[in-house]
Amino acid sequence: MKKETIKSAKYLTGAVELPGDKSISHRYAMLAALAAGTSELRHFSAAADCLSTLSCMSALGAEVKSDRDTVRVTGRGGRGLKSSWRALDAGNSGTTMRLLAGILVGQNFSSKLTGDDSLQKRPMKRVIAPLREMGADIRGRDDNFAPLEIRGTKLRAIDYKMPMASAQVKSAVLLAGLFAEGVTSVTEPARTRDHTEIALEEFGASIEKNGQTIRVRGLGTGNGSGKLLAKSLDVPGDLSSAVFFIAAASLFPDSTVLIHNVGLNPTRTAILDVFAEMGAAIQMLGLKSSQGEVIGDLAVKGASLKGGVIAGARIPLVIDELPMLAALGPYTEEGIEIRDAAELRVKESDRIGALAENLRRMGAKVEERPDGLKVGGQTAGKLRGAEIDPRGDHRIAMAFAVAGLGAEGNTVIRDADCAGVSFPSFFSELNRLSER
Ligand code: S3P
Repeated sequence: MKKETIKSAKYLTGAVELPGDKSISHRYAMLAALAAGTSELRHFSAAADCLSTLSCMSALGAEVKSDRDTVRVTGRGGRGLKSSWRALDAGNSGTTMRLLAGILVGQNFSSKLTGDDSLQKRPMKRVIAPLREMGADIRGRDDNFAPLEIRGTKLRAIDYKMPMASAQVKSAVLLAGLFAEGVTSVTEPARTRDHTEIALEEFGASIEKNGQTIRVRGLGTGNGSGKLLAKSLDVPGDLSSAVFFIAAASLFPDSTVLIHNVGLNPTRTAILDVFAEMGAAIQMLGLKSSQGEVIGDLAVKGASLKGGVIAGARIPLVIDELPMLAALGPYTEEGIEIRDAAELRVKESDRIGALAENLRRMGAKVEERPDGLKVGGQTAGKLRGAEIDPRGDHRIAMAFAVAGLGAEGNTVIRDADCAGVSFPSFFSELNRLSER
């Protein structure tokens, strides 16, 4: 368990090397394993979560070869996956478990899906319920938790009205829809990231979008080719990882940070709107569309941040960025208040609890609530360095490393390796860009 010591910084300068987008990497790896032929996935994420997906797809019979950040996946065609003799291990990755469950329920073999201690505590009923409506045979501990036992079976198409805004639930149903008879539709109550829809189209699935409803045709039905085709794709940089550098740069008036080739899909950029409303100085440059996704560069300068309230339909669109926003609270004029975000309690850790505890350790004024928290702004006093317990959660570790840059004295991040779940080079990049 490695500790990282963060010393206070004067400003940040330079260009950040981002990992490939984690959400997109998962989807490309899964669809490439279902496609016929070899897909070349460039700038594939080095995140431990995405390696979990690759190892699951390999255990299911896909051939996976990695050469630096390029991964070649040779798929076995829509019905060609084979059963794995050992349990499939999703590690810390909720996306791997929930999306893969959608694929496995429609195969002609049985599987067991498991994960680490954190993942075994996260709710799976949200995917179990709709998949069962499709005819799936899927069971979990207390009908809600991993390990999941899946007996692959014939599925029927459903029209699913999602009770919650979750890209993972939407994706699990759409992926199962590939193996169902007919056309499966999913209607979301609020917008969530749409990488699955985009990737399905890139790999040749028959998919249609109409308002908040997405329809996918089963591979074995209708006039489609009946199979997915291998693709060569470039994974954009991960905006959710970039956010730590946007936040860090914003803390100091003299910062200038450049972030090249970032994924700027509109279902992910709500965080940039939040930053802009708070007064951050972020410029989007060279926007272009690439293989269904949007990419561009970001130039960030120091700014004084106002703070504010984040709530409502926006929450699912910034859910992964909330830890960083909350940890910035003490550096803002008015502080930060987060509401309607009870979902944060069932992420890689109870993020509301972890934020409140560690912010208090640094001397912040925090009110913890069931669905969020209120963090006092600058008037509540300057943060002081402290020892941080990230509870094994990558985004908590990174958020407090950034908060530590502006604090008085050193901040020690316990179990800092957990950042590798999404951003293995985070601490070296942060150190490289920080001027002291
Ligand atoms: C993800 C969706 C989000 C997000 C997670 C990645 C995805 O979860 O928090 O980190 O890749 O689909 P939910 O869909 O459960 O909100």
